[in-house]
Amino acid sequence: MSGLLNLSGVSVHFSGLKALTDVSFSANAGEVTALIGPNGAGKTTLFNVVSGYVQPTAGEIHFKGEAIQGLTPHEVSEKGVRRTFQNGGLFGDMTVLENILTGLHVQINSNFWGLLFGTRKADEAERAAAARARRLLALMDMDGFADQQVKSLSGGQQRMVEIVRTIATEPPLLLLDEPAVGLSPPMRARMMEVIKRLAGEEGISILLIEHAIDLVMAGSDRIIVLNSGQKIAEGKPAEIRENREVLEAYLGYA
Ligand SMILES: Nc1ncnc2c1ncn2[C@@H]1O[C@H](COP(=O)(O)OP(=O)(O)OP(=O)(O)O)[C@@H](O)[C@H]1O
Ligand SMILES: [Mg+2]
Repeated sequence: MSGLLNLSGVSVHFSGLKALTDVSFSANAGEVTALIGPNGAGKTTLFNVVSGYVQPTAGEIHFKGEAIQGLTPHEVSEKGVRRTFQNGGLFGDMTVLENILTGLHVQINSNFWGLLFGTRKADEAERAAAARARRLLALMDMDGFADQQVKSLSGGQQRMVEIVRTIATEPPLLLLDEPAVGLSPPMRARMMEVIKRLAGEEGISILLIEHAIDLVMAGSDRIIVLNSGQKIAEGKPAEIRENREVLEAYLGYA
């Protein structure tokens, strides 16, 4: 067991429907691991089972060597495995920056030094958090929007804000389910660049579900391929590109 996240023989059955069958793989620290496969392959179910929203029928999930299967979503999140949702519950009337800081508040308030030394340290923590939030927005070319109300942004921009809000908490592992869906082509490319940089420079490991194969090939270190709930391949982008079974199952080539 060498990865940051290890799945071993994970199955998820929904009253007869085998959403996942005996899936094993590792996601390594500091890498972007992409999860691809056709509709209904079990990708989102795999995220759900890793993040505690669905219980595995069989198998084990380890994060940093510690078993996490059976934990609640909150407990998994506390361990450092975070995810974004399609509709992440941003506050439309608040500014972009305020939304990001909201995501950090729990962390700041529970900060040991803040409690010990009172408000001055807490203020410093708040200022540092705001500076970090602005830096992350700049990484996404979104710094110009920091003081705008979220509801005035496009759907794609709101998704970017949601991702910034999650990464601002510096999770060791971030699960992203189709983050580029609905974005304009330049924003999609930007999103993928940011994801790569997160893994490279921010030390945030990424597990990514993405249908756009061009983005996956360009932006991931390793690719896991699911089909009908089973892992059919894994490898570097160049290996997956040449894998016959993947071409047949996923890309529909005969
Ligand atoms: N809570 C659930 N109860 C019953 N069946 C479910 C549940 N969640 C998912 N499924 C089924 O499990 C299978 C895998 O679904 P899943 O959403 O994981 O696929 P996916 O790979 O994410 O597909 P897509 O690319 O369309 O998002 C599907 O047949 C789906 O209908
Ligand atoms: Mg899905």
